[in-house]
Amino acid sequence: MTTTPTLLPDRPAPIGPALAKRGRIVAIASGKGGVGKTWFAITLAHALSRQGRRVLLFDGDLGLANVDIQLGLIPAHDLATVLAGTRSLAQAVQHHDAGGFDILAGRSGSGALSALDDTALEAVLATLRDAATRYDHVVLDLGAGIDRTTRRMSAFADLLLVLATEEPTSLTDAYAVLKLHHADRMSGEGANGEARIVVNQAGNATSGERTYATLARACAAFLGHTPRLAGILRRDDRVRDAIRRQTLLLQRHPNATAAGDVERLVEGLLG
Ligand SMILES: Nc1ncnc2c1ncn2[C@@H]1O[C@H](COP(=O)(O)OP(=O)(O)O)[C@@H](O)[C@H]1O
Ligand SMILES: [Mg+2]
Repeated sequence: MTTTPTLLPDRPAPIGPALAKRGRIVAIASGKGGVGKTWFAITLAHALSRQGRRVLLFDGDLGLANVDIQLGLIPAHDLATVLAGTRSLAQAVQHHDAGGFDILAGRSGSGALSALDDTALEAVLATLRDAATRYDHVVLDLGAGIDRTTRRMSAFADLLLVLATEEPTSLTDAYAVLKLHHADRMSGEGANGEARIVVNQAGNATSGERTYATLARACAAFLGHTPRLAGILRRDDRVRDAIRRQTLLLQRHPNATAAGDVERLVEGLLG
């Protein structure tokens, strides 16, 4: 986690709850794959919907989209259909009845959406902007890695939630995401959103706090800025069970540890 210290000044952190306002795009990133982004994006969308918000879950993993897989859906339309102009956003979304939120699926493995050129990337951002006018919140599940597309989509969000686990590789990758986002924010490259850290798969609250502190210290030392903690989500076998059964955690295991952790995190964001 070594990098050249920067002397860039920090922007003042926005006061108040991150999601008090409607029409907000919340992006979920991590750098590393397999840390729980898709599961968390789905559960966040569900938790926000249970708080009475109109939510669109937008599959922004343009290479290996799998929101539909985790939920056992067979989408008739997806982001590629919208970009092709065959369907409008409103026609392409699918309502998740049990969850009470809408989903814009991605298309996995087709290659059509990965490695977008500038025009296609602008079209994805325009679709996101359109979505933000129609919903209270757009939850954007991003792919792993820090490629140009993922970085632009992170920069476009009003709030970036960066997931990290206790694993050193996850911490380094999460730091890389935070560093690039901070650089984009300072350069005015469209990144106006605050980044906050979510520790996932924590063994317990204390070790989760320690993971956050490690990451926050690196940011303070090298970026001159300390991202806030959005929440700690504990490791919980019922997460795996819900995913295996392609159901929502908050529906299948409402009393699960991780379910309560996500609900607390959402309360913090809504204020
Ligand atoms: N809080 C958690 N407790 C237990 N297992 C988890 C938790 N979060 C994620 N997982 C596990 O991590 C796996 C990867 O999750 P996924 O959402 O597909 O990650 P990503 O989108 O970051 O690649 C899941 O299949 C699940 O088994
Ligand atoms: Mg994923």
